[in-house]
Amino acid sequence: MAVKGLFITFEGPEGAGKTTQLKMLREYFAGLARECIVTREPGGTPIAEQLRQLVKHHSGDEPVFAETELLLFAASRAQHVRFLIEPAVARGAVVLCDRFADSTTAYQGYARKLDMDFIRSLNRYAVGNCIPDMTILLDLPPEEGFKRTAKRAETAGQHDRIEAEALTFHHRVRQGFLEIARSEPQRVKVVSALAAAADIHHQIVELVKQCF
Ligand SMILES: Nc1ncnc2c1ncn2[C@@H]1O[C@H](COP(=O)(O)OP(=O)(O)O)[C@@H](O)[C@H]1O
Ligand SMILES: [Mg+2]
Repeated sequence: MAVKGLFITFEGPEGAGKTTQLKMLREYFAGLARECIVTREPGGTPIAEQLRQLVKHHSGDEPVFAETELLLFAASRAQHVRFLIEPAVARGAVVLCDRFADSTTAYQGYARKLDMDFIRSLNRYAVGNCIPDMTILLDLPPEEGFKRTAKRAETAGQHDRIEAEALTFHHRVRQGFLEIARSEPQRVKVVSALAAAADIHHQIVELVKQCF
């Protein structure tokens, strides 16, 4: 019998340990001899990575308006789902994705306060039938996230356009994520990001085992 593909997303603020945990979980699946793909949003395909560059690292006089930002994220996701995620899951792979539609709900919906009904429709349109089997929400106070990203070598303490938003914005993001988890407890599992990385990994493995 063919193995069932799995689609697992990681959500939470910058500094929560999403990238760290994705890598650890990839090793776990490698140990099970499962094909495992790690990808990210925005991005994940050549076209979607170009959209990422526009939406996250654009600089110059012309601002990226909130409405444009929302649509660029959705465009990146529509491309990513169809070109990479769905075909991989269909052939039985495990796909681990760094951020997905819940980030749009939390950042553009709860934090930027764009029209939530429209965001829900847009997310549904972009993802189609591609709903995560499980979403791991790494929950962290924004102050702690800032401390961690300031030290992170990967970005040399540089903040992108969205990371540079005020602390109140990031508090709304956190509440938004927790609200999503409360409304979809079957899919979204909240894990405190304050524990040691190895402990968090252990908790995530136990949760993920429920999916297969
Ligand atoms: N559980 C943890 N406790 C303390 N620091 C952590 C933990 N997990 C990751 N870090 C560190 O915090 C920083 C951000 O982690 P990272 O995995 O890049 O987070 P994200 O991808 O969510 O932004 C990195 O410097 C990383 O080494
Ligand atoms: Mg990361």
